[in-house]
Formats: sequence, C-alpha cells, structure tokens
Amino acid sequence: MTTELGRLIARRIALTGPISLADFMAEAMAHPRLGYYRRALPVGAAGDFTTAPEISQMFGELIGAWLAERWLAMGRPAPVRLVELGPGRGTLMADALRATRGVPGFHAALDLHLVEINEPLRALQATALSAHRPTWHARLDDVPAGPTLLVANEFFDALPVRQFERTDAGWRERMVGLAEDGETLRLALAPGVTAWAGALEATLPGATTGAQAELCEAGLSVAASLGRRLAEQGGWALLIDYGRDGALGASLQAVRGHRGTGILDRPGETDLSALVDFAALARATGRPTFGPVGQGDFLRRLGIAPRAAALKARATAAQGAAIDAAMARLIAPDQMGTLFRVLAVGDDRSAAPAGFSDSPPDLPAP
Ligand SMILES: C[S@@+](CC[C@H](N)C(=O)[O-])C[C@H]1O[C@@H](n2cnc3c(N)ncnc32)[C@H](O)[C@@H]1O
Repeated sequence: MTTELGRLIARRIALTGPISLADFMAEAMAHPRLGYYRRALPVGAAGDFTTAPEISQMFGELIGAWLAERWLAMGRPAPVRLVELGPGRGTLMADALRATRGVPGFHAALDLHLVEINEPLRALQATALSAHRPTWHARLDDVPAGPTLLVANEFFDALPVRQFERTDAGWRERMVGLAEDGETLRLALAPGVTAWAGALEATLPGATTGAQAELCEAGLSVAASLGRRLAEQGGWALLIDYGRDGALGASLQAVRGHRGTGILDRPGETDLSALVDFAALARATGRPTFGPVGQGDFLRRLGIAPRAAALKARATAAQGAAIDAAMARLIAPDQMGTLFRVLAVGDDRSAAPAGFSDSPPDLPAP
C-alpha cells in the first residue's frame, strides 16, 4: 500500500514520464501538504531519528561558545544575524544561547533567524526560543543582509540528490518511473544521457562500470548563497552533517520509525537522507573553509570532556552515567565521532578557528 503522496507522484509520472530521484525526493520531503518535513515532529525519540542536540545539551553549549568566540573575533558586530538552517526542535539554539548568556554584549547584538519549512517544528522552536524573538524564513536568501553567524546541523543531508550509475556506455541517471501495473513506483536508469550524467564524464573520469555517484544541486545552491552572503557581509558558518569527500557511491537511505526501509516506500512518511559531499559543499561556498574534521575531534578540542566533568560534578551517579554515555555517542569513532563531520566557512584573515586545529581553544565558558 502506498500513500496519498505516492499516488500523486505516480499520476505525475504517468502524465509526464519518469522524474529524477531529486524531483522525487523534493516531493517526498517538501510537498506543501504531504511532504515528510511538513508533518508533525519527525525528530526525536518518538520520531524517525535522533540528532546530536537531542542526545546532550553539551553539543549546543559548545557550538554556542564557538559562535560567541567567532563574534568576538569579528569585532563584535551589532546587530549580527544569528541564523540556523533546519533548527529541528530548537534544542541546539536554546542550549547555545543559554551557554553564552555571560558573554558581554553578545545577546544584545543578536538578531535570530530560523530557516525552517515545518510548521509543527516552528511551533516548538517558538516555545524553546521565545526569549530571543526569532524570525522564520523558508529560504536562507530571505534572511536580511548583515554580518552573519550561521549553524546547520543535519540540514544538508535532507536535501534532494540525483543518483547516477556508470554503464558500459557512460554515466546514466537513475530515474523514478512506473512498473507495468502503471501505479507502483520503481527505479530505472535513463536510457539516454541526461544533462547531469553528461557532466559527470568530466568530473568523475576513469570510473569503472557499476560505479555509482550522487549530486545535491539544492545543497550546492544553498552553499553558494551562504558563500556570497559571507563574502559581502562578513561572518562565519558551521556546517555539521554526516558526510564524505567526493560524489562516488550511492548513499541515499530511507528510515521510518528508526528502521531502514526502501527509498520509494511510503513517500511522505519516510525520512530520506544522503551523505553530504563536503568537498563539493566547500567548493560551492567560494570562501576559505576549515575542515571538515570529525565531530569527535571537533567536540574534544572544544572541551567536551571538561564540560562533561563539570556537569557530572552536580549530578547523581545515574545522571553521571547518562552524561558519559551521551558524550561517547557524540564523539566515539564507532558512533557519531567520525561519520559526522564539521566544516567552518569564513575568511582567511584569521587562523583556524577553535576545533579545527590542535591549539587550545580560547572559548567563553558556559
Ligand atoms: C534532520 S532535521 C535536523 C534538525 C536539527 N538541526 C537537529 O539537529 O535536531 C532537518 C531539519 O531541517 C528542516 N528542513 C528540511 N528540509 C528543509 C528545507 N528544504 N528548508 C528548510 N528547512 C528544512 C527540517 O524541518 C528539520 O528542522
């Protein structure tokens, strides 16, 4: 049994022919009424997946300290646009802002902007961040100009990707079409060369038959827009996601209720995400970038261990064990420590910011 959205997509394909996987994913994730990211509360234990800010307050606190340090390094601009892309339940930003209350002048300078398409999540963000009077936008380009500090955690992995396979005849794009019954969605390679498949001959030369690749135009376009903003107005961005360097491989995965499922299965009720190509993202910004470094190294350099010790000093034994478990989940190499990566986008007037080199960070204490 498919979903109402699955039937709408099938009807569109019956009328106009097969669509790219990126077009399918755009519908499945962001269809105005039925898209996955339009429905209630996908993030969290009761949703389909849990994210780093939901694992521990330490994640948002350390990112808050990083942002405040960058603000100081920028010469304390006021106002400064503090922007989050895809803020989920607002937890990261709430923890970041609580941890930076003591930085003189920082909160008075902040003008908070949230880029979010999900109404139920916007309502949660409004509650979590009411004291900071955020403004919401559907797109980064709608955030007013001005010096900017931006953070995005698990935003780019949710944007639509195209997929390709190398055949004996060259690269071919994977499309979503219909099975013989005229209703069931199915994946098939385009018989001819689509525009993007043709371009891969130059960007991925020498790939062997059977190789697969992905391309996230939507992510590259947000990165380019971010880069233009930082070039024109000044500022820094911290992009955190699960990722890789390069386009090779088919990483798109589908999760429903914390379990893997088929990519075309129950569109609108299934989370789809793909590894972020950090090399392509960094290039698209056109700005100096630092990293990507593993999330484990980044958080360790920012001082997650002393922060955990400080929290444990005020905790019961059971709470202390939970703090240790959360820290391990965020930084251990076999958990989120290496698969998740952190990229900073900024300028080349300063040395590598905290978290991107082994020199001890000089961060405001939470
Ligand atoms: C995987 S969740 C991550 C949430 C949060 N950053 C966290 O770490 O818990 C992705 C977030 O991006 C939002 N989102 C997804 N696609 C979007 C789009 N095209 N434009 C704006 N926000 C989007 C979702 O509604 C959600 O808030």
